[in-house]
Amino acid sequence: MNEYRLPLSALGLFVAIAALPAPALSDEGHDHAPGAEQEMLEQMRRTHAGHQHDHDFEAMEAVSAEDMQRVMTLMMDIGLALPPMDSERGRETFLAKGCVACHSVNGIGGAVGPSLDAAEMPAPMNAFEFAARMLRGAAAMAQMQDDLLGAAVELNGQELADLIAFAHDEAEQRELTTDQIPDRYRDLILQ
Ligand code: HEC
Repeated sequence: MNEYRLPLSALGLFVAIAALPAPALSDEGHDHAPGAEQEMLEQMRRTHAGHQHDHDFEAMEAVSAEDMQRVMTLMMDIGLALPPMDSERGRETFLAKGCVACHSVNGIGGAVGPSLDAAEMPAPMNAFEFAARMLRGAAAMAQMQDDLLGAAVELNGQELADLIAFAHDEAEQRELTTDQIPDRYRDLILQ
């Protein structure tokens, strides 16, 4: 019986979600922002714009926005789709969360941890590989964050997705300047 548990519960989840009235599928309790689904569609369009083969975007446009949001929410929840990854928001998170105190990008930032230059990242981007690298460094990193910042940095899924996008986007990394670094982190770097 055991081997049937997972498929059945996944099916049960799908049926339960399909049966829910749309308002019950609000973004409450989710990491991704409202409108994330629209953003993801836009991103797909941009990413696939230059491809020779055709994607049937017209078919997606025929689906009502509400239904599309329900499908996308379901896909993200069960791990079939990634949240939209925004490198500009990632730059802001890199600054706000204090990654910049220990990691540099284009020579801007601290040198306690390895630099995170997009040019040095493996191509094509592999978000899971990046997360695994972070996890490998996590014990040392959390200890140092405790010592330097007073607490370990906490991230939600959306913030991690945006940070990974930033780590792989050379153009967005060029937008990072020293004067964007919050004072509390800049002081740490100069110590
Ligand atoms: C207090 C200092 C500090 C802060 C803040 C910090 N890190 Fe780190 N990080 C480190 C150190 C030190 C290592 C290397 C750990 C090791 O060698 O085991 C590391 C490792 C990593 C790695 C693995 C690098 C590799 O080459 O394997 C990644 C990726 C990373 N950090 C990303 C981040 C991100 C993103 C943030 C912000 C959310 C962040 N770090 C915040 C100190 C820090």
